[in-house]
Amino acid sequence: MQALHLWTLLATYAVAVGQNQGQKNQECPKLNAQMPEFQKKTVHIKDPGRVEEIICGLIKGGAAKLQIITDFDMTLSRFSYNGKRCPTCHNIIDNSKLITEECRKKFFSFQLLQLKETYYAIEIDPALTIEEKYPYMVEWYNKSHALLIEQGLQKDKFAEIVRESDVMLKEGYENFFDKLSEHNIPVFIFSAGIGDILEEVIHQAGVYHSNVKVVSNFMDFDEHGILKGFKGELIHVYNKHDGALKNTEYFKQLKDNSNIILLGDSQGDLSMADGVANVEHILKIGYLNDKVDELLEKYMDSYDIVLVKDESLEVANSILQKIL
Ligand code: TMP
Ligand code: MG
Repeated sequence: MQALHLWTLLATYAVAVGQNQGQKNQECPKLNAQMPEFQKKTVHIKDPGRVEEIICGLIKGGAAKLQIITDFDMTLSRFSYNGKRCPTCHNIIDNSKLITEECRKKFFSFQLLQLKETYYAIEIDPALTIEEKYPYMVEWYNKSHALLIEQGLQKDKFAEIVRESDVMLKEGYENFFDKLSEHNIPVFIFSAGIGDILEEVIHQAGVYHSNVKVVSNFMDFDEHGILKGFKGELIHVYNKHDGALKNTEYFKQLKDNSNIILLGDSQGDLSMADGVANVEHILKIGYLNDKVDELLEKYMDSYDIVLVKDESLEVANSILQKIL
């Protein structure tokens, strides 16, 4: 009883201090006791004490110090829904009836599917190192993008292609994006997908707010709106470190936003914050969607929080709820 009383006093004091500094609160929550979302069986944490410390740092820094750096495919978008795989940005195009019918090149989606099966298996192969996977990823992207260019895709069809696709954002995405927008927290979406498709997805979902910046592979169109190539340097699954360093200008403007929540689903996503010069606290949340038994240990060693076959943003939202 006395302990409870002392806790209430401490908590009241902490809230008062927080309010004095214009922040919501300053308590450092215990994960399981005060954040029930962490009790879900999808949540795996190697060092809960360390995660509590990081979250505590994020709470203390409040909105003023926070920024989000996130992957897109299979992180913000769902890996599956009702047992069926959901598409990546590339797959949205590969699967589109509109493309295959219009182009009347039946081999097109077959070829892309083959590419996907071969190279996706390499992407997630637990037995290969990132260095070993790297050249195959470059090969995958080059072949895949060359096929897309061959099809003469039309920019003005993208809205329909996305609307008719099975792409879905993770449960709780409205809360995630809206809260971040409300508090003007910078969100850097760093994707090895296709920027034009990604932007259309978040636009159609109504969450492409002004605090969101997308860095991805953007298409280049000719004067008739036909795809003729890709702009800039290729971003693939395992070169996000290089991409991050090319965006140091963006991160320089955010020099005071030294607290980061990073969300990803691949080992390559761990380097997405490499362009940030001044990191005070960084919380890395990783979705593990496939080959769980083989990869769980590796993911738990590298991500602070691992979410196994989790199709929601609940854990991230619960942390934001404490910070904002
Ligand atoms: P991400 O960085 O937003 O996760 O996007 C990259 C994903 O796109 C990665 O998991 C590989 C996937 N991908 C395809 O699904 N099809 C393709 O043809 C290519 C090149 C990549
Ligand atoms: Mg991804």
